[in-house]
Amino acid sequence: MTPQHNVTPAADWWRHAVIYQVYPRSFADANGDGMGDLAGVRSRLPYLRDLGVDAVWLSPFYASPQADAGYDVADYRTIDPMFGTLADAEAVIADAHGLGLRIIVDLVPNHCSDQHAWFRRALAEGPGSAFRKRFHFRRGRGENGEQPPNDWESLFGGPAWTRVPVDPSAPKAGEEGEWYLHLFAPEQPDFNWDHPAVQDEFRSILRFWLDLGVDGFRVDVAHGLVKAPGLPDMGHAEQLKLLGNQTLPFFDQDGVHEIYRSWRTVLDEYPGERIAVAEAWTPTAERTARYLRPDELHQAFNFHYLNTGWDAEALRAAIDSSLDAMRPIGAPTTWVLSNHDVVRHRTRLGGGEDRARAATLLMLALPGSAYLYQGEELGLPEVTDLPDEVRQDPSFFRDSGQEGLRDGCRVPLPWNGDAPPYGFGDGGSWLPQPADWAPLTVAAQTGDPASTLELYRTALALRRTHPGLGAGDAVEWRDAPDGVLVLRRPGGLVCTVNTTTAPVRLPSPGRLLLSSGALDPTDGEFTLPADTTAWWEE
Ligand code: NOJ
Repeated sequence: MTPQHNVTPAADWWRHAVIYQVYPRSFADANGDGMGDLAGVRSRLPYLRDLGVDAVWLSPFYASPQADAGYDVADYRTIDPMFGTLADAEAVIADAHGLGLRIIVDLVPNHCSDQHAWFRRALAEGPGSAFRKRFHFRRGRGENGEQPPNDWESLFGGPAWTRVPVDPSAPKAGEEGEWYLHLFAPEQPDFNWDHPAVQDEFRSILRFWLDLGVDGFRVDVAHGLVKAPGLPDMGHAEQLKLLGNQTLPFFDQDGVHEIYRSWRTVLDEYPGERIAVAEAWTPTAERTARYLRPDELHQAFNFHYLNTGWDAEALRAAIDSSLDAMRPIGAPTTWVLSNHDVVRHRTRLGGGEDRARAATLLMLALPGSAYLYQGEELGLPEVTDLPDEVRQDPSFFRDSGQEGLRDGCRVPLPWNGDAPPYGFGDGGSWLPQPADWAPLTVAAQTGDPASTLELYRTALALRRTHPGLGAGDAVEWRDAPDGVLVLRRPGGLVCTVNTTTAPVRLPSPGRLLLSSGALDPTDGEFTLPADTTAWWEE
């Protein structure tokens, strides 16, 4: 039975929603073990309601050995004890709904943990066994099978294959057997999605969480489930450089769409518009749009936008191409600047807090849905000086197949106080927080109109009420000097952005609603400082 749902039943809520990503291990620690948990999330839900977001996406909290911070799931229906219990998850869902927030959980269907019951049986029961068929086990190449079955590389570096002993319970040197495929860490074996048991299992997992009342799923590696028949060689190295700009035999295969059609029928069985958002890396925005046809998923992250630098022309092109790709299929465009896998945008865009604030106001002015990553509302920078011995990102240990390292954006949040752990919990924090974060805490910024936290609160409140913000599929560009963007949305919202390093003087488009930096309006004109965005009502 679906639990009581107090969230306003808004049709198409996901077409304009602002969705806040909680990374549970780094959000709030209720039991003082230095690691965030679900009770911590629950205690801070009122903060998220007051911030003004519509939904919360929780990164994985399932039973996991944490080889990849929970993206290695050992049991999809159990909460890892370090995060709490199923009762804690139910309490988070119930409280969130009571506060008018929706909950989206992370679903990891491309791979599981090597500690998942199916994989353990696959290893124990040996070549040709029924459980090995649920994964990609193959004999190696070479005289004694000593070469991987093909040339695919893991996204975390090194080959995408690991060889297992003939008898894993009593491994003997010289008695190696089959290899298994893992596009990520060796502890993350890929499922074989041609197998009906895998398909049935994931429909059942969807129902398990929908029955508990979740409002949607973020689908991890949604582009990776189906592999090209025969697992053909790529034919060259440095394959990761092709990620997101070329079709690969392990990504964005046409067969994935059948899976999402079958998931959509499950989602649609439930009341209240339950959604799925795809993490889909594809070569073009048009290929991404295929995941969002009306009988497939609802949204996809816009990584093309995330990867666009602070450059007016490039931003305009990315905005236009994103909207153009989604318009024909009627799916909302999404916008994102930060998440748990990339350098925080305050640091990545290279312009400090001013530029980050300007980038955020531009993003929140665009038509569609927006994703925020915990801590960006505090203007947190990337932590770039973590000592090697505290790092936990598997890409660090496997020679970083992915660009950059991911621990620096995962440092626990500062809530209050003058010194670490800044109210994160009573027991320190699993990654050290910088000594100079006291001015960035929630408590320090609350009530200070110049703070980034208050900028986010004001912007999100305006987004809820202004008819020119939120859902839509069009922007109109006005003439503007080089490096400056002036866009108007139907509904009378004008957004002016100065991406240059010098102030510009512009005609005032109307009544000022909000700006990321101080303006100087006089005589029907105003000065837009460097790295500043302003919203106007025409
Ligand atoms: C994408 C997730 O966002 C990332 O954190 C994870 O390492 C990979 N998928 C593998 O699950």
